[in-house]
Amino acid sequence: MDFRGTDLISIADLSKEAIYEVLDVAREMTPIARGEMMDERLKGKVLATLFFEPSTRTRLSFESATQRLGGRVLSFGMPEATSITKGETLADTVRMVEAYSDILVLRHPQEGAARLAAEFSEKPVINAGDGAGQHPTQTLLDLFTIWDEKEVIEGIRVVLLGDLKYGRTVHSLAYALALLGAELTLVAPPTLQMPREIVDLVRELGREPKQVEDPREAIKDADVLYVTRIQKERFPDPQEYLKVAGSYRIDLPLLRDGRKDLIIMHPLPRVKEIAPEVDRTPHALYFRQAFNGVPVRMALLSLILGA
Ligand code: NCD
Repeated sequence: MDFRGTDLISIADLSKEAIYEVLDVAREMTPIARGEMMDERLKGKVLATLFFEPSTRTRLSFESATQRLGGRVLSFGMPEATSITKGETLADTVRMVEAYSDILVLRHPQEGAARLAAEFSEKPVINAGDGAGQHPTQTLLDLFTIWDEKEVIEGIRVVLLGDLKYGRTVHSLAYALALLGAELTLVAPPTLQMPREIVDLVRELGREPKQVEDPREAIKDADVLYVTRIQKERFPDPQEYLKVAGSYRIDLPLLRDGRKDLIIMHPLPRVKEIAPEVDRTPHALYFRQAFNGVPVRMALLSLILGA
């Protein structure tokens, strides 16, 4: 695929071949991401980050990726400090920021915001999370992590556990895993099940997902356990959040029933859904997964900017 100048709004914008192309380039980028090799292919390029929601990993790894490749970054700390508070629309903000940069990375609480931004911007727009919608770059780094660890994605048994309703990472990931031929098992509290339209998409790809209630049962023969945080900020009613808070937790006793080579992933931040003692087991891959955000975003930026 010719990535030059393209937007990345939904993971469905990428074919299987395009996804593997990103993963291949990400592998080449790894020593640069670690600072072991120097490369200046983004020299002279400016990336703008527009984050209207909190972020640690996504924003910093985009910034690290750009700077390690010799590019520069523009961003605002708090959206409250911008003209948005004076009533400027997202469309106008985007039109301004594109004049100052070569590529825009947007995170926004509203589903569809990135698509809208891309309509108003001539410059490429990357969706870094739009409400409960999509988070395609997280999916690319999640796929990279599985591929790097297990060497294949096709046929891998993946359990997605947690808030599958509001969690955008699992919306993008479920689609991509189905596209790449993984087997999916979904485990969620009754009120936080995977939206119908995502399950339908997975089915259309010929991958009927298993829906299981008991996490212990689900992880028995799994290769990957992908855990998510309950997305507290997206609940219209705080009472509904309190009803499900703390309803699942991965700890050592639970893992006794799992495979020895089970890997546990999490997009982070974690709250209480993974016990800290799990961090010291060989299953815990979430911190390496977070590092992988750098080479994967390097790959994407260099492909899109044609560097
Ligand atoms: C996720 C997000 O923002 O959707 N975080 C991330 O980008 N790594 C997951 C979350 O906030 O729970």
